[in-house]
Amino acid sequence: MSTQARILSILKNNNGRWISGENLSAEVNISRAAVWKHMCKLKQDGYMIESLPRKGYLLRRTSDQLLPEEIRQDLGTVFLGKKAIHHFNSLESTNTLAKELAVQGAAEGTLVLAETQTAGRGRKGRYWFSPPGEGICLSMILRPDLSPFEVPRLTLLSAVAAADSVRNHTGLTALVKWPNDLFLGQRKLAGILTEISTDMDAVNHVIVGLGLNVNTAVFPPELSGTATSLFLESGRTYSRVGLLRQFLQEFETLYQAALSQGFDSVIQRLRTMTNTIGRRVTVTLNHQTHSGTAQDIDHDGALLIMDDNGRSLRVLSGDVNFV
Ligand code: BTN
Repeated sequence: MSTQARILSILKNNNGRWISGENLSAEVNISRAAVWKHMCKLKQDGYMIESLPRKGYLLRRTSDQLLPEEIRQDLGTVFLGKKAIHHFNSLESTNTLAKELAVQGAAEGTLVLAETQTAGRGRKGRYWFSPPGEGICLSMILRPDLSPFEVPRLTLLSAVAAADSVRNHTGLTALVKWPNDLFLGQRKLAGILTEISTDMDAVNHVIVGLGLNVNTAVFPPELSGTATSLFLESGRTYSRVGLLRQFLQEFETLYQAALSQGFDSVIQRLRTMTNTIGRRVTVTLNHQTHSGTAQDIDHDGALLIMDDNGRSLRVLSGDVNFV
């Protein structure tokens, strides 16, 4: 354990009581000046620490930054987040870095997190708005034993896990817009970007990126009519760390079950939590746009659409728009 982690653990175990600089420096065997420096760093990391001349230090509130040590605390997963967790205050895109790490051989379960992204990416080259400290920007490196054609089902699985974790953490009913969005009411709460690297017919790695708007109060004008956050829907703020832990746990449970028993139960759950079945939609396939009504999601996770000419369309992956 690093000195900083030891100091933090002492502060946490002190349960809201003051601890003198002298006792701290004796316990971790560094000077009082060095203790002070660590306190400054912890404050920068978002911990609310009070300091008073004759009393010492007191941890008032833990940090809600997506810090590896906070996420790991009480994380009930087997492999996800158990290896490296890379956290950045600012990064171009967590998916881009995760891809680079995966190419360099990073283990399954490696996570990349950012407080803000300067070039967060969505599907179809869209950008993902990620203001500092307000949402979850996560990318996970996976190495599933799946065929490349099965990988789009991981997007559906991620959406189910994200909707479940939002419900369990906040009580808000998020619905999945097939295949990769989470909606609260008529607005988008979260998006998933799944990127795959294959070698011949085998999957090398998959990057699942999740962007979830947690405590955002203001969206830029071009998004304000279509995007929402947990804060805007409920009027209260939520612990990003708590929600992230919950997501990781839900995702891992579904992922391990899907790899050993198939995706049937994920698809069944998805059918009960999607806002897409029964809706009028447009979908673009081979540069042609079709209008119709979404009928169902089949056992492979494909969206079944009856187009306006009475033809059945089966969409395995793609972008649908509500009309
Ligand atoms: C979409 O709505 O089209 C998908 C949005 C995915 C955004 C997340 S944020 C974390 C990860 N890094 C990225 O650059 N994109 C994904």
